Amino acid sequence: MKSIKSLLIVLISFSVACNSVSENKIEVVSPDGNIQINFELTIEGVPTYTVSHKKSEVIKSSKLGFDFENAVALSANFKIINTTNSSFNETWQMPWGEQIDVVNNYNELKVELQETSDLKRKLNIVFRAFDDGVGFRYEFPEQENLSEALITEENTEFNLTGNHKVWWIPGDWDIYEHLYNTTMFSEIDALQYVGHDNLAQTYIPNNAVNTPVTMRTKSGLNLSFHEASLIDYSGMTLQVDTENNTMKSVLVGSENTSYKVKQTVPFNTPWRTIQITEKAGDLIESRLIVNLNEPNKLGDVSWFRPTKYTGIWWEMHLGKSTWDMASGKHGATTENAKAFVDFSAKNNIGAVLVEGWNTGWEHWIGFEDREGVFDFVTPYPDYDLKEVVRYGKEKGVEIIMHHETSAATQTYEKQQDTAYALMQSLGIHAVKTGYVGKILPKGEYHHGQYMVNQYNNAVIKAAKYQVAINAHEPIKATGLRRTYPNTISREGLRGQEFNAWASDGGNPPEHLPIVAFTRMLAGPIDYTPGIFDIKFDKWKKDNQVNTTIAQQLALYVVIYSPVQMAADLIENYEGNPALQFVTDVGVDWQQTEVLNGEIGDFVTIARKERNSENWFVGGITDENSRAIEIDFSFLNDEDVYSATIYEDGKDAHWDNNPTSINIRKLEISMKSKETVQLAPGGGFAISLIKK
Ligand code: NOJ
Ligand code: CA
Repeated sequence: MKSIKSLLIVLISFSVACNSVSENKIEVVSPDGNIQINFELTIEGVPTYTVSHKKSEVIKSSKLGFDFENAVALSANFKIINTTNSSFNETWQMPWGEQIDVVNNYNELKVELQETSDLKRKLNIVFRAFDDGVGFRYEFPEQENLSEALITEENTEFNLTGNHKVWWIPGDWDIYEHLYNTTMFSEIDALQYVGHDNLAQTYIPNNAVNTPVTMRTKSGLNLSFHEASLIDYSGMTLQVDTENNTMKSVLVGSENTSYKVKQTVPFNTPWRTIQITEKAGDLIESRLIVNLNEPNKLGDVSWFRPTKYTGIWWEMHLGKSTWDMASGKHGATTENAKAFVDFSAKNNIGAVLVEGWNTGWEHWIGFEDREGVFDFVTPYPDYDLKEVVRYGKEKGVEIIMHHETSAATQTYEKQQDTAYALMQSLGIHAVKTGYVGKILPKGEYHHGQYMVNQYNNAVIKAAKYQVAINAHEPIKATGLRRTYPNTISREGLRGQEFNAWASDGGNPPEHLPIVAFTRMLAGPIDYTPGIFDIKFDKWKKDNQVNTTIAQQLALYVVIYSPVQMAADLIENYEGNPALQFVTDVGVDWQQTEVLNGEIGDFVTIARKERNSENWFVGGITDENSRAIEIDFSFLNDEDVYSATIYEDGKDAHWDNNPTSINIRKLEISMKSKETVQLAPGGGFAISLIKK
């Protein structure tokens, strides 16, 4: 794996309002000239901004500022003491990812403000205008009258220009595992989900949404609001005012402090981001979130290799086996793990996740006294960790470690060095972590500053032991994988597991066509695709996956993750010809092209594998059947490819006939066009192997 290096950096900087319109009104425009940010200090000295796209307003005048504990608000009576405009253009490389080269090109405006009152406190606001959106953040520079900030609220406004169509989940402080809603902005009602079923923990204090939240304007522009580089700060929800079409930041708090963020000055806040694109698919191609993060701080991370994996996992969610031993049907046995190793080795799958391998699962959920239960080093007596790892090595298959913390953070923090050192000594380079349940210490929430630091510190510590983390019940992705590329994947959405047990019928067919344009903009998703036994009536009569089997294949391409699970039971794969796609499909990409898509309806993505000339295409639809024409001009060379198309059978349907699949082979070149028919809840997958 190549190390991240900047190929080209152009940095031009000039001070004092060069693009200045008047003294208190300044602008910055994206490199292509389409996106413009205007900063204006009102007569009262309140900092405000607007954003426009091709001269039409996207964000109306919106205020910026902070409330503090024991200090007056930092939100008015400012004067501008300096402004700096600069341009930046670099191409950096992802050590693994959706593509290799990433262009990071923006124009920046830095506005330095100082209060005119006696306090004379200072605040800088930095705006970056990219061709695919904007980012801005607050910088608290070193200063005399502000050494510690106890922030009770950040008051960043996002005032919309109309009643847009919105794809949203409630602004839950404790979990992102809600279904997406599609409503007009005026109809957002997050509070209806207070105390919602099927969630291990949930807390929704306001009519707010979590980010990324994606919208479409009446004129067809696509907008997505999120944040980048969330470090030592609280996650941001967006409180909505459904009458005035406005949003305002509400930071996640804690029951243990009256402030929401405690920081020592100088510090910078995370970036507040708005991705703005004419085509919905361009939201998925946008790299704005990673671009707003610092470059790689870890150097060479080639010890982590993107991989497909199987696991002792779905069988617990189906009830075939359990994590604990008391039930008498313990899943994580040496024998079972070896069977998964054998199956993986045979099918070009590089790793096996083993959950329920360590003692403590008899007492992991539904108890208050969860600290001290798990130790992350002691296997159950029927699981020989060393032997499984040795056997895996012999077969070329790595074991993925599992650390369910049960949200008992102090136990995990204390154990991390020991646990990661054990992994390193065994040559295990990836761990799936979990934070199910109410956070201990009591009063903290999954998305507050305390937990943001827990998640980030775990990643930084793990890197020292050459360990990469795939976190479940995580903090949202904000592009930190650029800085710490051992941040490989995460959950942070309603994953496949809900199909196994949720009492509300699981994830409806529109779920993933929404996720691709919302949650996926934040970063890689451990969705755990590849369920072939869609109805699993043998295990659970009342639950099922709500897609066709062809869509399950498509997800390997559509939903991006550098660790991609083949989640089903071995017996459900054996002998099924659709398994060939799982065997063939890549998991690390040189290039990604979104061929078409509309938010919540359908999307088709083509990805070219790294270190090979092979392409893979995946397409998914919601509950509506549709024909998709694929234009193969993206192949961009004269060569001929052997294509295998895995498409919904003629009579396929996510509910009535989900396993009906048609597999056909043909030759494809860049001049080819093929129409594929997608069933309701269906999809298709194509492998293109260069001849
Ligand atoms: C929740 C995770 O999302 C799931 O994948 C895991 O199996 C359980 N926690 C147990 O750790
Ligand atoms: Ca979960």
